[in-house]
Order: sequence, then structure tokens, then C-alpha cells
Amino acid sequence: KDHLSQVEAFSADNLKDIEAFRIKYLGKKGLLNEFFAAFKDVPGEQKKEYGQSINQLKNAALEKVNALKEQLEESRSEASVYGDLTRPGTPMEIGARHPISIVKNQIVDIFSRIGFNVSEGPEMEDDWHNFTALNLPEYHPARDMQDTFFIQTDPDILLRTHTSSVQVRYMENNKPPIRTISPGRVYRNEAISARSHCFFHQVEGLYIDKNVSFADLKQTLQYFTTEMFGKSKIRLRPSYFPFTEPSAEVDVYWGLETETDYRMTKGTGWLEIMGCGMVDPNVLENCGIDSKEYSGFAFGMGIDRIALLLHQISDIRMLSENDVRFLEQFKTVL
Ligand code: PHE
Repeated sequence: KDHLSQVEAFSADNLKDIEAFRIKYLGKKGLLNEFFAAFKDVPGEQKKEYGQSINQLKNAALEKVNALKEQLEESRSEASVYGDLTRPGTPMEIGARHPISIVKNQIVDIFSRIGFNVSEGPEMEDDWHNFTALNLPEYHPARDMQDTFFIQTDPDILLRTHTSSVQVRYMENNKPPIRTISPGRVYRNEAISARSHCFFHQVEGLYIDKNVSFADLKQTLQYFTTEMFGKSKIRLRPSYFPFTEPSAEVDVYWGLETETDYRMTKGTGWLEIMGCGMVDPNVLENCGIDSKEYSGFAFGMGIDRIALLLHQISDIRMLSENDVRFLEQFKTVL
């Protein structure tokens, strides 16, 4: 209703303008009548030409008035059907990507540039894919490294503690050469605090081919950290994982005195960001890959940890509280 009356007022205004135009040229006291009145004083030999031109002028004015009226009528009916098409639209609210997604996409992007594809698997796993195939037989003490949530009714079914389970599935179903990364949510029965949660997100990577060496692993990690954090130093510390031999923990140098990059301003020195190693031959064999022909490396990192670092978030719980005041801050990050 409101809109319609606006349309009416708009056309009334325009109609007034058109009428004013009509009166000025075609009205009783209009310009054209003055010209017609002057006709009698025009010398005989010029009468014909003069008469023709004022008639032309009159027709042109009439046509103009009719055309304007038609145009107005058209836009009036259009406006009453579609609304006022010249009004600016209502801006659309644009959502923000979750920081976990932002960082995950970055990681996926970096590895896809060197030929890694993305593989996914179930969050609810069986013992084989999460443990046994990964060289962690039953009663292996290393199972305690990762406190597991079991599904009460079936001791064989659990919430995966890492996405290494996806790599097992991938090896079972694909022949080497393999280059794949597996992003996903994982679960561990840990006390919830600002630094750790009972679920978080990982990206694990797997590379299997002939003659893959530890140097290939280190170079791949150096490429990754440089792309992810800017110019960066890494160091590999000897470590232990049941599924890799040798194994290492990767630290990245988070510029303390040297400001290496805008992404690494708040320096804290060496920071552990992932685990890695050469895939244990037992694991390859468990997954149907000939360990005499093939070798490979694997690595795994926590997305949440990296998101906290890059976006200077002080509490991991913010990542799962869905507070819009927090989430809105990522609107400008793609
Ligand atoms: N699966 C390990 C973890 O969750 C990470 C890892 C992956 C370590 C691959 C070495 C090789 O902690």
C-alpha cells in the first residue's frame, strides 16, 4: 500500500511536469499559438514555408507529450507489479568461514599444489584401522598414548583418535604411487582446557612410491611450513610413533628476535607443530603394499593448534562454542 501510494505520488508529479510542458507549447496562451497569431503578418511569399514549419513544430510537441504520457503509464504499471526497480537493494548478510575451515583449506591448497589429493574416512572406526593395522596390536603399550573413546556396546568400535585410520583405508584401496592428505575430526579422552579439547582436527599426509627417502620428507615439510607460515626454519627431533620408523617431531621457529613474517609476529621460539616419519614396513604389509618395493613417509598435524597460532586465539574452546562475536571476526578471511 505504502509503495503504491508512492508510485501514485511519483506519477502525479511527473504528470504535472508533462502538463506544464504541454501548456507552455500547446496551451491557449502557448508559444505555438503566438506563432500562429503572427502568421497573418508574414509576407506572402514566406507564408508557405512559415506555415509548414510551425505545423511541424506543433506536431512534434504533441508527439512529445503523448510519448511522455505513455512512458509514464508504462513505468507506473511496471512499478506497481515489480516494486520500484530503482531503489537500492537490501544488503545480504555474508557469513564467515570457521577458522578451522580457513586453516584446513589453506593446508589442502598447499599440498594439492605438489600433487596430494584429499581422502576422507569415517569418524567412527574399528580397531583395525585406528590401531592394529598401524602396528599397534592389542595390549601394545603405545595404545595408551591416545586415550580412546570406545562405543560402549562394542569394544571393537571407537571414535578415531587420529586420521591415520584414513591412510590405512586409502592404502587398502589404492596402489602406489600414493600422495594423499586426510583432513578430519578426531577424538581423545582428554581433560578440556584452554590448550586441549576432547575433539580436534587433523591433517595427516601419506606419500608412498619407490625410493622415497627421509630427505624427501624433510623437503616436503620445509615447503609446507614456508607456504603456511612464511619464511621459516624447521627442526626435526627424534621421536617415537608405532607406525613410523624412524620418527620425528617437527618444530617450527616462531620468530623470537627476528620478525620473519607478519604471520609470525608474536615470537615464542621453537614450537612443535607435527609428528612424522618413514612408514613402518609392517604397516605397508598390513595394508597390502610390498615393503621391499615401496617406501614412504607420513606426517600428521593439528589444525586447531595452527589456527590458534595464526589467528592469535588464546583459548581452543572458542573454536567450538559458536559465539557469533568470535566467528564474525573471520568475515574478511577467505
Ligand atoms: N597419528 C599421529 C598423531 O595423531 C601423527 C603422526 C602421523 C605421526 C603420521 C607420524 C606420522 O599424533
